[in-house]
Amino acid sequence: MMPIKIAKNVFCICAQDWNRKLFDALIPLPNGTSYNSYIVKGLEKTVLIDTADPQKENIFLEYLKDIESIDYVVCNHAEQDHSGLLEKVLEKYPKAKIIANAKCKDLLKDHLHISEDKFQVVKDGEILDIGGKTLKFVFTPWAHWPETMCTYLKEDQILFSCDLFGSHLAAGDVFSDDKKIYEPLKRYYAEIMLPFKNNLKENLKKLDDLAISMIAPGHGPVHKCVDFVLDAYEDWTLKEPKNRVLIAYVSMHGSTEILVNRLADSLRVKDIPVEIANVEDSDIGKVAEELVDCATVVIGTPTVLAAPHPKAAYVAYLANVLRPNTKFISIIGSYGWGGKTIEVLSALLCNIKAEILPPVMVKGLPTDKDLSEIDKLAKLIASKHKTLDK
Ligand code: FEO
Repeated sequence: MMPIKIAKNVFCICAQDWNRKLFDALIPLPNGTSYNSYIVKGLEKTVLIDTADPQKENIFLEYLKDIESIDYVVCNHAEQDHSGLLEKVLEKYPKAKIIANAKCKDLLKDHLHISEDKFQVVKDGEILDIGGKTLKFVFTPWAHWPETMCTYLKEDQILFSCDLFGSHLAAGDVFSDDKKIYEPLKRYYAEIMLPFKNNLKENLKKLDDLAISMIAPGHGPVHKCVDFVLDAYEDWTLKEPKNRVLIAYVSMHGSTEILVNRLADSLRVKDIPVEIANVEDSDIGKVAEELVDCATVVIGTPTVLAAPHPKAAYVAYLANVLRPNTKFISIIGSYGWGGKTIEVLSALLCNIKAEILPPVMVKGLPTDKDLSEIDKLAKLIASKHKTLDK
């Protein structure tokens, strides 16, 4: 297997993982993923940027078999899906130095027990001249961990961005297609970057200073459609959420589903697009994706053991940790004889600074009066959405 040329003397090692089903034992991967690393050959030195997940050791080392020497291994991010084969690289190239920032060095020492003498620590903005090619290290903290940085290759205007601008997509093509990449990019943004959007604002501003012709991330295809990718990130990070409603629900005997369908119909006639996710068995990644830019989120749940259904509680928990820009939240659902569903869900949503719209909880099978309460909720959402972008 040969590294793939993406520019003159710049190559991609793309360890595809078609069959991986979950990331972090949590995030569903309907399209698998890839772990990308890159080789930059200067006239004097050769640099490897990042490694791959240890599960892909064989394929990764196969890519390196014809690379005679590596002088530096840049570690943009200490998480093991990018750093996990550092020791294997050091075994093969014992003179190589790991280039990392101070935080990354500490994390690598903790997670991989790499010894101090293997590191060359760099500061934000520091330059490494490898002969005809110049690398600049740009710290981008919290994209995804506190130590994350990007490496910029000045002569070829390539940004090696690790997690940033990635997608969990095992793709046959090296380069992304802007018609196909939007959804994988957004889903990945939701799952990995959304909790850190305030840091992203600063990071995007910082990257504005660089002329970028290609983004080479640590997951998914390489982007030549740089403006498309940056515009999408700016849209999700900097702009207000859209005139859209996400209804994530679970129903046991049909009462909650009746309310959900009524609310969706009532919103649609008011020209409000609705995304419905039945979380009984649906892909939670789709819910995360909608959280990026839906102005309103409604959780629908029956009452189970005096509390929300655990799958509805999971949606609330997920939304709470992803901390989307949601403007309005409501809860609809049903109960048999009582319970604390509203209190429990509200407590789970405590990190989200959204306005809570009056919930609609009904006893048993919804009556006409209950459905008119749902219509009132739709009317209230429509009035709140008046000022939002279509
Ligand atoms: Fe792809 Fe945060 O690791």
